[in-house]
Amino acid sequence: MIICKSASEIEIMKEAGQIVARVLLKIEKLLEPGITTGEIDRIAEKEIRSYGAIPAFKGYMGRLSSRAYPSSVCISINEEVVHGIPGKNKIDNGDLVSIDVGVKKNGFYGDAARSFKIGRVNAIAERLWKATSEALDKAIDKCIAGNRLSDISNCIEKRALSSGFSVVKDFVGHGIGKKMHEDPQILNYGPPGQGPLLKKGMVLAIEPMLNEGKSDVEILEDMWTVATVDRKLSCHFEDSVAVTQDGPLVLTRV
Ligand code: MF3
Ligand code: CO
Repeated sequence: MIICKSASEIEIMKEAGQIVARVLLKIEKLLEPGITTGEIDRIAEKEIRSYGAIPAFKGYMGRLSSRAYPSSVCISINEEVVHGIPGKNKIDNGDLVSIDVGVKKNGFYGDAARSFKIGRVNAIAERLWKATSEALDKAIDKCIAGNRLSDISNCIEKRALSSGFSVVKDFVGHGIGKKMHEDPQILNYGPPGQGPLLKKGMVLAIEPMLNEGKSDVEILEDMWTVATVDRKLSCHFEDSVAVTQDGPLVLTRV
């Protein structure tokens, strides 16, 4: 069942979304070669709490893992796709770094991710970053009442394939609201024109994950980090988007 939110609930969700957006901007400024992912996580958690919000990922029990997620944000570097656990490793020049932030505020969740290019990245990373960012923008444009859910999925896959990249199939976007993960699952691939009709009040966390090489991914020994099997690059962007009368409303951008 897809839960539709009232206009006032969407206003509350926007508050959560704006905190996520601001925390991502704050993190972006910290991303210099040499900083550890653990340091970024500590600063991010402080920042989230300074808004009176709760880091949504910390302590989260995933379906796929028997270990609660230990940190406030996910930091996934290069061949890592999503759910990278912050720690002692350092950001390096040339890295492609995905930062995923989720918060709970006034009973509602916000969830977004950006990938950042550290210093000078190679031409493939540059193209993968652009394709993934554009895939999300195109997907957001599909968040219009009357469209079908898979119109979002299809346009993400199309943008990936047009640059010769693949999409991750084992992880998906999701509805979001009073729970971080609500129905529906939002695949990053598939034919258009299928699935539920999009309706005013739906809020969707759309998260394209594009791979340089094959779409296959695996979970590493830490039980959370998702990495490409071929160890080629992956890139991830995410926004929480409300379907409104006036079209898509991106809650997680300032
Ligand atoms: N944006 C991710 C998601 O929607 C982040 C989840 S991390 C977790 O699933 F630790 F909370 F699972
Ligand atoms: Co998400």
